[in-house]
Order: sequence, then C-alpha cells, then structure tokens
Amino acid sequence: MAVLSYHHLLHPTLSSSTHKHTRSSSLFRGANERRELFSRVSPLYDNLNDLLSLGQHRIWKRMAVSWSGAKKGDSVLDLCCGSGDLAFLLSQKVGSEGQVTGLDFSSDQLSVASSRQQSRACYENIVWIEGDALNLPFPNTCFDAITVGYGLRNLLDRQKAMKEMLRVLKPGSRVSILDFNKTTESYITFIQEWMIDSVVIPVASSYSLAKEYEYLKSSIREFLTGRELEELALDVGFSSAKHYEIGAGLMGNLVAAR
Ligand SMILES: C[S@@+](CC[C@H](N)C(=O)[O-])C[C@H]1O[C@@H](n2cnc3c(N)ncnc32)[C@H](O)[C@@H]1O
Repeated sequence: MAVLSYHHLLHPTLSSSTHKHTRSSSLFRGANERRELFSRVSPLYDNLNDLLSLGQHRIWKRMAVSWSGAKKGDSVLDLCCGSGDLAFLLSQKVGSEGQVTGLDFSSDQLSVASSRQQSRACYENIVWIEGDALNLPFPNTCFDAITVGYGLRNLLDRQKAMKEMLRVLKPGSRVSILDFNKTTESYITFIQEWMIDSVVIPVASSYSLAKEYEYLKSSIREFLTGRELEELALDVGFSSAKHYEIGAGLMGNLVAAR
C-alpha cells in the first residue's frame, strides 16, 4: 500500500482544553483514542455513511468539492480523508495533470482508501499520507484547494487546524469544510439525534460499535454553529468565510478563502 508515514513529525499526545475551539467530548477525549476509534469503525464506515444519510452524503461531498474551487491541473489536499470519498472526487476534478493528497492519522482508514484506489486507473494522481491535521507535513502555500469532510468536528484543536490549512493554501485559494450542521433550530437537532439513536446506533450495536457512534451525537453538540465557524476562519486570518446550510439544515459547509 502506498501510504507515506509522517508519524515522526507528530506530537505524541494532544492535550484537551476548555477553550471553545479545543473542547473535546467526554468520550474519546485524546488524539490516540480518536485514532483508534476511526480505525475500529473503518470496515463499517462507508456503509454507515450511506445508511445515516440515505446516500445523500455523496451529493453533499460533490457540493463540497465544487465549493473548493479545485480545477484541472491543481494540487489539492483532502484533510481527514478517511476512506477517500472526497479525494476520489477531487482526483476527477484535477485530472491527470493535477495531484491529490489525502491525509489522515488512521492507517486503517488509509488502507481502505488505498484499496478503493485500485478500482480506477484515473485515481493514480492520489497519494495517501499518514499525518496529523494539527501539524501538517507540507511547506507554506503549496495547495490550490483544500477539502475537509466530517473532519474538523473531530479535531481536538480546531483553531490550530484552521491555521495549518491557511498556512498551506496558496493566496486566493479556498478551503471547503463539510460537516454536520450544529443548528440553532431545535427541530433539526431533534431529527439529527433521532437518526443517530434510531438508525445508526442500533446498526452499529450489531457490530459492537455502539459506543463509537454514541460519540457522534456528543461531537455534534460540542461543534461550532455556522456563525462560529465563520468567525473562527476570519479570526485565524482567512479573508472571507461563508457557511452554507445544506441537506435541509442537517449538514453545513464552510467555504473560506485565503
Ligand atoms: C468522520 S471521518 C471522515 C472521513 C472522510 N473525510 C469522509 O468524509 O467520509 C473523520 C476522519 O478524520 C480523521 N482524523 C481525526 N483527527 C485527525 C487528525 N488529528 N489528523 C488527521 N486525521 C484525523 C479520522 O481518522 C477519520 O478518518
């Protein structure tokens, strides 16, 4: 499997904090616990995505890639790439003259991504890197676009992650961040939590992964609202930031330009 490891560049532990950008769920508090969580769910992850979203996540991911502004010949990054959905869409956008880097800290997720890569020759423009979103192993201003799908919510220090994305983006380029929408509408929160309790956790239980998927609910509660995400992007130095509610408000996508 062609996965490059940058473990030697990583901090061994990441501390939690009470700051709003560094809050962590009571479950899976540390970076190592979260890496193990995503490794354990990796065999089931793609199927549960389809189940939770009734297949809609594929549409939302296409929207996220489109908002990133990635185009033919670009060099782009998919951060927290997991099993690679967004990286594969980016691969088609940038074409054979372009380059996609998928970065994740779970080697098991990257193994799934790498095996899916074999399915199409056009995915040859993707490299997988095992690394930490909080300490990116890339030089300044090297990417034309960045996508993050369901990743920022899981990071222990979102401000640091946003700073890192800003650092590696070229001036004028965009980051497109898709995630659950932490809404201020109580009926949307109700639907999100009902879906997780009634659909996702029962299915996950049958694979002994209930605890892992209970974490999903608390992580959404502890995430930032659209407005807070826009403020975070502007605070760290992005020149513009706009959050879009999608999927009837269940999901959100932050688009920020350097
Ligand atoms: C919910 S999955 C999303 C995967 C994929 N982007 C998608 O949309 O299907 C979140 C991913 O973030 C990764 N992740 C979490 N914290 C990370 C970190 N500090 N550095 C790199 N990857 C991280 C996990 O390993 C996991 O694969």
